[in-house]
Amino acid sequence: DAADTEKGTYDYFMMKEIDEQPFVMRKIIQQYQDESNNIKVEQVVRDEMAKADRIYIIAAGTSYNAGLVGKQIIENVAGIPVEVHIASEFSYNMPLLSEKPLFIFISQSGETADSRSVLVKTQAMGHPSITVTNVPGSTLSREADYTLPLYAGPEIAVASTKAYTAQIAVLTILAVDTAKAKGKTLTFDPLQELAIVANAMETLTDKKDVFEQMALDLFKDTRNAFYIGRGVDYYVVQEASLKLKEISYIQAEGFAGGELKHGTIALIEEGTPVIAIATQENVNLSIRGNVQEVAARGANTCTVSMEGLEKDEDRVVLPHVHPLLTPLVSVVPMQLLAYYAAVQRGCDVDKPRNLAKSVTVE
Ligand code: G6P
Repeated sequence: DAADTEKGTYDYFMMKEIDEQPFVMRKIIQQYQDESNNIKVEQVVRDEMAKADRIYIIAAGTSYNAGLVGKQIIENVAGIPVEVHIASEFSYNMPLLSEKPLFIFISQSGETADSRSVLVKTQAMGHPSITVTNVPGSTLSREADYTLPLYAGPEIAVASTKAYTAQIAVLTILAVDTAKAKGKTLTFDPLQELAIVANAMETLTDKKDVFEQMALDLFKDTRNAFYIGRGVDYYVVQEASLKLKEISYIQAEGFAGGELKHGTIALIEEGTPVIAIATQENVNLSIRGNVQEVAARGANTCTVSMEGLEKDEDRVVLPHVHPLLTPLVSVVPMQLLAYYAAVQRGCDVDKPRNLAKSVTVE
């Protein structure tokens, strides 16, 4: 409806879309649930998932970053190996495929030419395909065998926010559905966990002034910034750095915490911002070790952790959510930091230079 495509009281669509994320989570829960509160996924999709011996996720940009998180969730929950590929690379540098591959195309717009070119090739090879998209009726949605809609409503800002979290939520539901179909015992109810996620997101979007100040402290005079994480947090820092680059033009990279010492730490100078995400118990101590390493070299550090794993020095403590679903929550401060960095630099948040919302050329 018209309200979806108007900014209302917001300065930029990006902030409106960041704020919409809890509602999108609730909408997804509603849409993927039947009358008896069971997950509702088409039987044909279920069958394809059950048949696949390996899943190939194909995507670009933020959708690729969502795919990385999706891999973690699908492998953990459904027990199917997953590879995530950048569409533009896959189309000419195809890896050896498994015997029964299933292709999942993640695309907010459903129009990305790089992804479509892969679909055309894999379809010619006779492989099944699912599109996870915000635009049913888009090219990828029409051409793939099946579509899983995101129900995120129109995303207008070039920098993707609510589509990223919607993609992860839908992949979670798909993973759990597959696990159930395979008779696996599940340790969590995804619909309930996503409802908890929605509330956690809200507590963050309610504290915008905190992130506005943090952006000032971290990025005011900087030319570059680093984000670090381990495990699933490493996937989120890749999205965090992409957001910052896209809209504030600050050169930023997301690194695996343990890899810094193998090269990148050479770039740390007095005042270099390093943002760490620490939501995973098994790597909590090691990521904090990495923060100390860069702090000792003068970095301006900031750690975002999760309830239960926090330390006194942490700048942000996220409300506790299921450990597999932390990306849905930890990305929100990252989106807000990028937003405020861009605003503070006078950038056009919704229409960054050189970028298009969907890229329909290869
Ligand atoms: C463009 C946009 C990105 C987006 C990417 C993939 O480059 O600027 O924000 O992540 O395309 O788009 P898709 O619609 O396929 O998710």
